Amino acid sequence: MNIIVCDNYQELSVMAGDIMAAVVKENENCVLGLATGSTPVGAYQELIKKHQAGELDFAHVTTFNLDEYYPMAVDNAQSYHVFMQENLFKSINVPADKIHVPDGSVEDAQAQCEWYDEQIEKAGGIDLMLLGIGENGHIGFNEPGDSLECGTHIHKLTESTLQANARFFGEGEQMPTHAITMGVASIIRNSRKILMLVNGVKKYPILKALQEDVVTTQIPASLLRLHPDVTVICDKAAFYGEA
Ligand code: GLP
Repeated sequence: MNIIVCDNYQELSVMAGDIMAAVVKENENCVLGLATGSTPVGAYQELIKKHQAGELDFAHVTTFNLDEYYPMAVDNAQSYHVFMQENLFKSINVPADKIHVPDGSVEDAQAQCEWYDEQIEKAGGIDLMLLGIGENGHIGFNEPGDSLECGTHIHKLTESTLQANARFFGEGEQMPTHAITMGVASIIRNSRKILMLVNGVKKYPILKALQEDVVTTQIPASLLRLHPDVTVICDKAAFYGEA
């Protein structure tokens, strides 16, 4: 696990945008794994800038998002479908039929999970998987526990995640208690390269824990230590613990 420490969020975002852009430039048919949360937004803005400057073409790119709340209507303002449209897709040219975000509106969630894994496999896996990290060490919505599920599945959110993500929901808006998420094994097995972004002093304890030479399901992100090509880009606040 290679850790790069940037001065600030802007620098982190530019570096992440450059790494993602390089993958697209190297292979116009590449498959990108994408994350939500506040951390990747700056990197998405960098990709948009490059696209609008005519430097980056997404016409042949396929994307797979990590997760979605369940249950969640696709057009709900809090859905990760809408988040991705607003923060990335509406400003670049990935064709709609190449965009994949788990559908939180389906009745048969199990079938949706199996379908999602099949699509990733059909696409030939993921060239670059972008990840954030939860304060409790979750990746996607794989929450700490005694065991972790391998493939895409439905997961009950922990109290810590419900609290951390409540900031995105307005007054009176009920936050779903479950999510559909790629499993840790699907992330590790299916991704050739992994790029994790860690920003802000709140992530200092978990980033510190991640640097221990230990793998534990109590810190789902620690399983990334089993992957041969993981780059973590963080800012100074997350690395040194000072705001
Ligand atoms: C959510 C997402 C994760 C993300 C995490 C951290 O729970 N499911 O994929 O990494 O939030 O979000 P933030 O970047 O806002 O701290």
